Amino acid sequence: MQSTPNIESLLPLLPENITKFAYEKVQQGKGLFGLVHKNISYDLLKTFLPQRKSETKPLSRKTLLELEKKRSKLVEVDWQDAEKGVYPVSILFDNPWQDFFRYYPELWIDMPQMWQRIQEKQFQNFSFEVDRESYPAYYLQNFHYQTEGYLSDMSANLYDLQVEILFNGSADAMRRRILAPLKEGLDKNTSDRQIKLLDVACGTGRTLRFLRATLPKASLYGVDLSTAYLRKANQLLSEIPGELPQLAQANGEELPYLDDYFHGVTSVFLFHELPPGARQEVINEAFRVTKPGGIFIICDSLQIGDIPELETMINNFPLQYHEPYYKDYITDNLAERLEKAGFENIQVENHFVSKYWIAHKPKNG
Ligand SMILES: C[S@@+](CC[C@H](N)C(=O)[O-])C[C@H]1O[C@@H](n2cnc3c(N)ncnc32)[C@H](O)[C@@H]1O
Repeated sequence: MQSTPNIESLLPLLPENITKFAYEKVQQGKGLFGLVHKNISYDLLKTFLPQRKSETKPLSRKTLLELEKKRSKLVEVDWQDAEKGVYPVSILFDNPWQDFFRYYPELWIDMPQMWQRIQEKQFQNFSFEVDRESYPAYYLQNFHYQTEGYLSDMSANLYDLQVEILFNGSADAMRRRILAPLKEGLDKNTSDRQIKLLDVACGTGRTLRFLRATLPKASLYGVDLSTAYLRKANQLLSEIPGELPQLAQANGEELPYLDDYFHGVTSVFLFHELPPGARQEVINEAFRVTKPGGIFIICDSLQIGDIPELETMINNFPLQYHEPYYKDYITDNLAERLEKAGFENIQVENHFVSKYWIAHKPKNG
C-alpha cells in the first residue's frame, strides 16, 4: 500500500524560499483565524451579557502596528533558528491540526457555561469529581474561564487550540525561543545521549515535543499538576519518534528529583499563573535539581516596562481572562528571584509578547 506523503518527507524537496513562504503564510493564516475567532466570541459575550461593563481599553493603532512588527520578527527569528539547524525546519509546521478540527466546535459549545461563570463571578467552580484536597489552593481556579480549570480531559483537549487563538497562532514560535539559548548553554563536553532535561508545568507537552526534535537523544522529563494534561501530553508525545519523555504528576514547588540531576530545566507560561511565594519556590526547586554549570530558562508574558507601546494590552489581559496572579506577575522581578535562589549570569530577552530569563547555576554551585 502506498503511504500518503507527510510534510516532513516533502520539505527537503522544496526550494528554501518556498518553504519559508509556506511557513509565513501558515502563520498569517493562524493569526487571522485567531483574530476572527476572538472578535466573534467577544461580540457574542457583549450580546449575551450586555450588562457586563468592559474595563478594557481599546488598542491604539500604534499598539497594533507594534504587535504586528513583533509578530513578524518572531516568525523571522523562528525561521532563522531552523535554517541554522538549531531544530529541524519540519517543526515549524508541527501543529496538532487533527485536534484543532476535532475540538474546535467544543470551544463554542462550552461558551455558554463560560458566560455563566463570568456573569456569576464564579472562578473557582469545579465539579465534585475534582479532588480539591490534592492541589494547592492557588491552583483551583478556572484560569482563562476554562471549565474545570486544568482538571479535565476536555480542558486538555481544548488547551492548545485556545492558546493558539490567544496568541494569534504564535504560541509555538514563542515556546521555540527557549531552544537556541538552551542548546547554546548546555555543556559541550556532554554527549546528547547523556543530557537530561526537565520541563516544569509541561501541560500538553508542546515544549517537550520541540525539545525532542532539537535534542533527539536527550532524556526528557516533564512534570505538571494536572493528570488530564499529562495524559494528553503522553498521547501526543507517543506519536513522535524517539524515546517517550518521562512524565510525572508533581508540583513545581516540590520536584520529585535528586539534587543536581538535570543539565537543563525549562518552564513555559507557568509563572504568571503562580502567586509570588510559589514563583520563588519553583525557582528554588529548579536551582536544586539543576546540575552545577546547568541552565534554567523561563518563558512567560512580557511585563510592565518592557515595551511601552504594549502596556495597554498587558493591562487588558487580566480583565479579559481569569488570571488572578497576572497583575502581581507583571511587576515581579524574576531576575532578583533567580539570583536569590543562587542563579547567576541571567540574560533577559523579549520575543513578540513573551519574555525569557536565561539563568545559569554556578559551576561550583
Ligand atoms: C498556561 S499552562 C502552560 C503549559 C505549557 N507549559 C505550555 O507551554 O502550554 C500552565 C500549566 O501549569 C500547570 N501548573 C500550574 N501550577 C503548577 C504547579 N505548581 N506545579 C506544576 N504545574 C503547574 C498547569 O496544570 C498547566 O498545565
